[in-house]
Amino acid sequence: MQTDMAQSTHPYRQARASAAWQTLQDLAKRPWPLEALFATDTMRAERFCAKAPSLYMDYSKQCINDEVLQALLDLADSCDLQARIDALLSGEKVNTSEQRPALHTALRLPKTANLTIADTDVVQDVQESLAQVEHLATRIREGTWRGFSGKAITDVVNIGVGGSDLGPLMVTSALEDWADTDIAVHFVSNMDGSQLDNVLKRLNPETTVFIISSKSFSTVDTLSNAQTARTWLFAAAKTRLGSDDSVLRRHFIGISTHAARMSAWGIHPENQLKFWEWVGGRFSLWSAIGLTVAIRIGMDNFRELLAGAHSMDTHFATTPFANNLPVLLGLLAVWNSSFLDIHAHTVLPYDGRLHALPSYLTQLEMESNGKSVTHQGQTIDHNTCPILWGEIGSNAQHAFYQLLHQGTQQVSCDFIACVAHYCSTAASRSLQQQHQLALANCLAQSRVLAFGNASEDKDSDADRHKHYRGNQPSTTLLLDALTPYSLGALIALYEHKVYVMASIWDVNPFDQWGVEMGKAVATSVYGVLAERAPADFDASTNALLQHIQQYQAQ
Ligand code: F6P
Repeated sequence: MQTDMAQSTHPYRQARASAAWQTLQDLAKRPWPLEALFATDTMRAERFCAKAPSLYMDYSKQCINDEVLQALLDLADSCDLQARIDALLSGEKVNTSEQRPALHTALRLPKTANLTIADTDVVQDVQESLAQVEHLATRIREGTWRGFSGKAITDVVNIGVGGSDLGPLMVTSALEDWADTDIAVHFVSNMDGSQLDNVLKRLNPETTVFIISSKSFSTVDTLSNAQTARTWLFAAAKTRLGSDDSVLRRHFIGISTHAARMSAWGIHPENQLKFWEWVGGRFSLWSAIGLTVAIRIGMDNFRELLAGAHSMDTHFATTPFANNLPVLLGLLAVWNSSFLDIHAHTVLPYDGRLHALPSYLTQLEMESNGKSVTHQGQTIDHNTCPILWGEIGSNAQHAFYQLLHQGTQQVSCDFIACVAHYCSTAASRSLQQQHQLALANCLAQSRVLAFGNASEDKDSDADRHKHYRGNQPSTTLLLDALTPYSLGALIALYEHKVYVMASIWDVNPFDQWGVEMGKAVATSVYGVLAERAPADFDASTNALLQHIQQYQAQ
């Protein structure tokens, strides 16, 4: 671990000075009318597509031509993208501000792989951790884990936030068809306790296990929810049997990089699942943080998820850039943001099972690439990460598509759909029709967004209200079917997309210093609220505090 790539050269200056950057800037000044691009190039859809195991990507509706694509590929070379990919996968300290690797890809290496970092056999460590996950998950699933009154577990509550919540939440909801247990999983993240309150009202403390998921085991949101859950359990157990220690042991599991903090909180050593500093929070669902996934869908399916992600890692590492899905997706995002000046990006899954994917990607992309200085602290003079949001596509059609079709903003879009029929035992024929309907809408919307109806007569005022200007660039990703394997590949695709963008911009996607100051200021404000002390902040904050304090004193 070896060299610190980003310190040894000036990659940002190198990229900005490259011929490819200049070419892209010049190309971006041209208009890119999708309708004309399709009219003059009938082979466009055949050329601007790429495949990986279980995935097909059509990017022909992006505002590009061969020249743009070539310049983007040249830019990737100017930024030494292949060396950066190799650095990521081999465990170099690509997280330069925290001086550590970002080795989420090691979490899904097969047992037979070799990866030794600083004399540590990473693959062996990962396999041992997975075995522990399997052991705990199996005890809960098979009913040999018992609550304080001797009953088997019926409910598991994951208490975590950000990467310790969104990944397992998204995967368990997406793969609910694979759930093969009656044990329900719940996710609680909100600091204010309202979510937890709601969940606790419905649960029996005798049969509930809490998983306290926190990489740092110091996040106030998580610890405050955990404290409330502990109080709830102690109150219920007091009138029955069991010491506090045995209640803690039978009802709390901790997942963290900080064993000492878990112990200090009261997590029994046997219930501690550990992972490593080199796993970023938003890249951690593949680690022990995925325990709820393993409980709900079983370890074999969890391993399939890992295998799908590994297939994408291999594709990313070995496929020529012109056919490499994450590289293409990342380069197109750079083109849209840094050159075409498009500030917003939306993710639109046409499959309700992927409803939590947009939130997951919001953290993955914006917390990673919402940066404005390079690894070496140079100020970046162009757009980096766009604002990202999303929703189930068909619901979004009835909510914000109006803006996509007729608003003033250019927005790039990712359409995501599954080819295989969604099918369940009951009403399967009707569900199959619904699946086709969703697919039809997915294709129809990307078509209207691309081509609009600009060519139609729009002379009258009334017609102008019905004008669709088109030219919203989009990529369509088709999964063969939604399975643990394909979902793993899809998530890894986006992880690597993020890394490609960061590599071109020379930003560190693995730190998040921008969240720290708010936490510190909140601590001071909390002190004022808790002690009902006079406030000494800015005039607005003081006035708000005064209003709150006066109201609360009534
Ligand atoms: O505050 C941001 C953040 O650190 C995220 O990066 C992370 O996923 C989340 O908080 C939760 O952190 P932890 O897992 O340490 O509780």
